[in-house]
Amino acid sequence: MLVALLAAALVSAVGLSAYFLHELESFALRKLEERLHTQARLTAALVSEIALADDARFDASETAAIQRALDDAAPYAASRMRVLDADGVVIADSGGAPGTSYAERPEVREALEGGYGAATRVTERGRVALYVAVPIKRGDEVVGVSYASSTTFSIMSLLSDYRTRLALVVAAFAALTFALAELLSRWLSQPLRDLATVASRFAGGDHSARAVPRGSVETRALAQAFNAMADEVERAIGELKEEERRKSRFVSDVSHELRTPLTAIRGAAETLLDGDVSEEDERQFLASIVREADRLTRLANDLLTLQRIEGATGELPLGRVPLREVAERAVEALQPLTEARGVRVVVTGDAPIVLGDADRLQQVVANLLDNATRVTPEGGTVEVRIAASDEGVSLQVLDEGPGIPKEALPHLFERFFRAQVSRDRSTGGAGLGLAIVAAIVRAHAGTVEAANRPEGGSVFTVRLPALSLDRRER
Ligand SMILES: Nc1ncnc2c1ncn2[C@@H]1O[C@H](COP(=O)(O)OP(=O)(O)OP(=O)(O)O)[C@@H](O)[C@H]1O
Ligand SMILES: [Mg+2]
Repeated sequence: MLVALLAAALVSAVGLSAYFLHELESFALRKLEERLHTQARLTAALVSEIALADDARFDASETAAIQRALDDAAPYAASRMRVLDADGVVIADSGGAPGTSYAERPEVREALEGGYGAATRVTERGRVALYVAVPIKRGDEVVGVSYASSTTFSIMSLLSDYRTRLALVVAAFAALTFALAELLSRWLSQPLRDLATVASRFAGGDHSARAVPRGSVETRALAQAFNAMADEVERAIGELKEEERRKSRFVSDVSHELRTPLTAIRGAAETLLDGDVSEEDERQFLASIVREADRLTRLANDLLTLQRIEGATGELPLGRVPLREVAERAVEALQPLTEARGVRVVVTGDAPIVLGDADRLQQVVANLLDNATRVTPEGGTVEVRIAASDEGVSLQVLDEGPGIPKEALPHLFERFFRAQVSRDRSTGGAGLGLAIVAAIVRAHAGTVEAANRPEGGSVFTVRLPALSLDRRER
């Protein structure tokens, strides 16, 4: 584009110069011809005055007088003046000897016939000259010719001078335009080249590559748009990688959880197969097999539950949930377990109705109670405390257990997380209980957090938003 612009500028500059020079030349030639014409007419009038008063012939004294007049004027005239007789022969010449016949020249013939003659021709010295011939008349009779001529040398040298100067100006102008075009193209294309480099770096896997907004408004906007896109792509890639990591960790966690009960079952079954086991041992091994199978079933159920809640694209079946009733139902369902553990469970407080899935919320309470009653020593008390809170309602489960180690707090709600490894499988489950709690609470647009109580034990707090129309959003 810039090359085209440059070419157009040059062509028009050269064209304009050529046109201007041509016009100037024809103007100067016209002027020269006019001058020669005037001079020739004046000379003709003068000659008539000097020589033709008596008759139509030029005698010797008259010719001499004419020659003198021409000689007198010669130093001041830029042109050459000749006077020819009726035969076209020179009788007086401002710049040479008389005697030559110019009768053959067309412009002279023209004048001899009473008209005006003009011609341009190359002189013997190789210069271009302009010739103008006008008749010298006596009455109607043509008695001679006044013949003026001048080389066009001065005009031509002036023009060539102009041509040189114009060429210089055009060259300077072209150089300037070129420099400007080069600068402009750098300024325009450098940021684009930079952007291309950054883009290929990004494509090559360097996702931290970002463009520096530079240059014109458009290239800056392009760089910013590229950066925004790069941010987005980098974020998406990061998320994908994170998702990938979560999945593979999940799979390895699941296999790990499966292996322990399966090993136990296999061990017990092999021992039984071997025979030679006392009846009491036999019962124990069978019980162990049943227990481990139960654990596997529970694991499968828990995973399924998690999958259903987190993978759910649709919405929870929402209903009006009285939180206190739900808590009491959970306590009732867990009564055999809590009684076996020798722990008392009390439900206190009340709260306004919330919108949610009653069965799922009961599972939240059950999972929290399961943990709380497990850690609380025999004879202790676990409290389920319900209250209206700032943004909605809250449900707390407070236990009298050992509390939660500080470093475990941020991970409690992760899948398969167990804080006390020593306690692990003999007493606890797979570490999915709190993950399920968190998933259900999230699906209700609520929050759950764990903390240690100052007086000992821990407290789990679930907050659910108050009943309102946008409750359906997760
Ligand atoms: N009330 C509590 N006091 C102290 N530690 C707790 C309490 N609740 C949970 N934890 C710790 O958090 C871990 C995760 O609890 P979570 O309920 O997710 O798993 P789990 O009880 O071990 O197994 P599951 O619930 O799947 O049977 C527990 O292993 C335990 O170490
Ligand atoms: Mg649990």
